[in-house]
Amino acid sequence: MNSVIQARIVKKDNLSGEIFHMVLETEIPLQSLPGQFLRLSLPGILDPFIPRPFLIFREHGPVVEIVFNMRGKFTRMLSQMEPGQPLELHGPLGKPFFLPDAESYLLVGGGTGAVFFSRYLQDLQEKRHLFLLGSRNSSTNWFSLFYPAENVLLVTEDASAGLKGTILDYLPKTVRDFKPALILASGPLSLLKGIASLLEDDHTPLWIVLEEMMGCGVGICLSCAITLRGEEGLRKACLCREGLVWKAKEVILPEP
Ligand SMILES: Cc1cc2nc3c(=O)[nH]c(=O)nc-3n(C[C@H](O)[C@H](O)[C@H](O)COP(=O)(O)OP(=O)(O)OC[C@H]3O[C@@H](n4cnc5c(N)ncnc54)[C@H](O)[C@@H]3O)c2cc1C
Ligand code: FES
Repeated sequence: MNSVIQARIVKKDNLSGEIFHMVLETEIPLQSLPGQFLRLSLPGILDPFIPRPFLIFREHGPVVEIVFNMRGKFTRMLSQMEPGQPLELHGPLGKPFFLPDAESYLLVGGGTGAVFFSRYLQDLQEKRHLFLLGSRNSSTNWFSLFYPAENVLLVTEDASAGLKGTILDYLPKTVRDFKPALILASGPLSLLKGIASLLEDDHTPLWIVLEEMMGCGVGICLSCAITLRGEEGLRKACLCREGLVWKAKEVILPEP
């Protein structure tokens, strides 16, 4: 179902740097499934006109949580809003994604890309798993507030938290040592490209979460189209309808 649901802000926290956590109470439950996303618009505001897409960090009953990075006009306005103010929520959107059954999982994420993993924490509890998470520095390391430390290998570029370096510096060794049966990566396109390229000759199934620019969010404008390679040649797919998660080998990744 894709509908507009009236919501109001219950809580807003500045987690670190330009990263915010927001709790919304909706008029009716969104009832999203893992892997789906929502779009937000501000009632009565025409600029920005197009609702902006966000991953669903957590959902319980009529409560929906997001984590967002302040990037441009919309996210700046969102960061300045206060509890009690109204928002319009569109969704749930996109194709649900359930973790393929595997003996062990390596989840690799950077920045707000790690928001994607939160819907799978319950499934992962019973399974062998490890998060390899990266951020620029300790002030952008928002996920340590939510993810249990014992399963996290954290890297920061300036060593202000965890190991010094980038995800790409530690990925090959982590894959060799941990020997995951499946890898799921979420983050900026440049990171996903780096991961796919480093693991090109590795046989571990690699799934990637693509969060490209979106317009309509419902398969009409084609602004989120990506190119897939299959047995019958190349084909286009809309992330908003068929995504967001793909086997890395199936996708021709766009330029960041
Ligand atoms: C399916 C989906 C889920 C998303 N989930 C989250 C989330 O959970 N948390 C979060 O912080 N952000 C998320 N994003 C990105 C978020 O939608 C954008 O940051 C937001 O739309 C920017 O709006 P703005 O008006 O603030 O900035 P704009 O003025 O629209 O853009 C500011 C800058 O950010 C860049 N930008 C905008 N959107 C993206 C994008 N999708 N990827 C890379 N660069 C972008 C623009 O190129 C520009 O340089 C998601 C995007 C998609 C498509
Ligand atoms: S965002 Fe318009 S087709 Fe996907």
